[in-house]
Amino acid sequence: MKKLIFATSNEGKMDEIRDILKGMPIELLSLKDIGIDIDIEENGTTFEENAIIKAETICKLTGEIVLADDSGLEVDYLNKEPGVYSSRFLGEDTPYSVKNNYIIDRLKNIEMERRSARFVCVIACSFPNGNTITREGIIEGYIAEKISGSNGFGYDPIFYLPEYNCTTADMPTELKNQISHRAKALKKMKEVLIQHIPNIENREIQSEDFDSK
Ligand code: IMP
Repeated sequence: MKKLIFATSNEGKMDEIRDILKGMPIELLSLKDIGIDIDIEENGTTFEENAIIKAETICKLTGEIVLADDSGLEVDYLNKEPGVYSSRFLGEDTPYSVKNNYIIDRLKNIEMERRSARFVCVIACSFPNGNTITREGIIEGYIAEKISGSNGFGYDPIFYLPEYNCTTADMPTELKNQISHRAKALKKMKEVLIQHIPNIENREIQSEDFDSK
C-alpha cells in the first residue's frame, strides 16, 4: 500500500483526513506514527508558504509523499489579522478566551456587514520528485457580537455563520467537519492524489460510478 504522511501531530486533524480519504488504498501516517518530532519554523507570510515549508521539509526528510496544512482566521475589519499568526496572536500561550474577547472588543459597535471574516486552510502535497501542489478551502462568516458555544477549538466561539444562525462552536463537530475550510481543502486534495499517484484509484468512487451505470 502507498504510504502518505500527514505532517501533523494533531490527532483531530488525522481523524478528519482519515475520514475524507477512507476507501483509498493508502497507509496514512502522522508524524507521531513515523517517530518524527520536529519543530518546523513557519516563517512564511501566507498560508500557502507555510503549508509548503512543512510539506517539503518532511518530504525531504522521509522521501515519502507528504501532506501538510496551514490555516487561520482572517478578519476584514482588522486588515485580515490574525491570519497566518492565528495561533501566535497575542502570544502562543494566551488562552483563546482572551484572544476571542480581544477581537470582539476591537469590533465593538461595528455593524454586521463590516464584521466579515473567514477561516482559510491551504494544504500542500509534496512528492519525492520535487513537485509540490497546493489546494485551498475557505469558509466565509462573521465575527459574532459575543462568545458562544463550547465545541470546536480556537476561534470557533466567535465565528458566526448566518446560514446556521450560530457559531462554529455551537454546531456539532460532525457538521463543522463537513463544511469547514479544512474539509474543503482536503476534498480538493483528494482529487489531486487520485490524479497524481499511480494506481491509487478510489474504491468508493469506483463502486459508486459502477452502480450508477
Ligand atoms: P494550524 O493550521 O493548525 O496551525 O492552525 C492555526 C490556528 O488557526 C489555530 O491555532 C487556530 O487559532 C486557528 N484555526 C484554524 N482552524 C480553525 C478552526 O477550524 N476553528 C478555530 N480556529 C481555527
